[in-house]
Amino acid sequence: GRRSRRSLGRLRALLASKNANKLRELRAALPGWEIDLLGDHAFPSEEGDTYLENARAKAMFGRTLAPEDVAVLGEDSGIEVEALGGRPGVESARWAEDGVAALLAALEGVTDRRARYVCELVLHDARGEASGRGTIAGTIATEPRGSEGFGYDPIFVPAGETRTVAELGNTWKSRNSHRAHAAHALDELLRTGGQRSGPD
Ligand code: IMP
Repeated sequence: GRRSRRSLGRLRALLASKNANKLRELRAALPGWEIDLLGDHAFPSEEGDTYLENARAKAMFGRTLAPEDVAVLGEDSGIEVEALGGRPGVESARWAEDGVAALLAALEGVTDRRARYVCELVLHDARGEASGRGTIAGTIATEPRGSEGFGYDPIFVPAGETRTVAELGNTWKSRNSHRAHAAHALDELLRTGGQRSGPD
């Protein structure tokens, strides 16, 4: 079973992504796992209506390439801005060439600056599918600050903080980000022998 397998060593998984930032953050959030990038493949474009669909599509594509005895991880994430009706959301990666500049421009003069990050992780292994979701609430700053993280981190201030995620840094992200929350939910599900269903 899952538990005995884990006790023999770290859970090995291949992340179906080219994003080295995501790899670094997932490794930091899951020190008990051994995660690598699946490789430089032409991953399918993200056409689903939900993060879950996109993460599943990446995992299923990865499944066709990875060795059978290794788990495959698909990840999809985005930022949802209240004043933009939840956009860019699931389209975050395609929304704008310079998302930070575009978001600051879209929110110029807007006082409601609430937003949230969402991350969905899907794991496929010989037993089927398991997934984990994580979100964090925050607000969009009026100018970029900080140098760690990636994407919208220089303008995202988590609820209860005054600094941006890029200022709070990668160590903070490894415990508190939407990606860390999704990773911990997935890890907890697998450790407790939780729900397994879906395609594989
Ligand atoms: P995808 O998951 O590859 O579709 O890309 C998600 C997009 O959402 C990224 O390109 C970023 O623009 C944004 N995003 C997701 N997670 C983060 C994060 O942790 N920090 C900053 N931006 C993020």
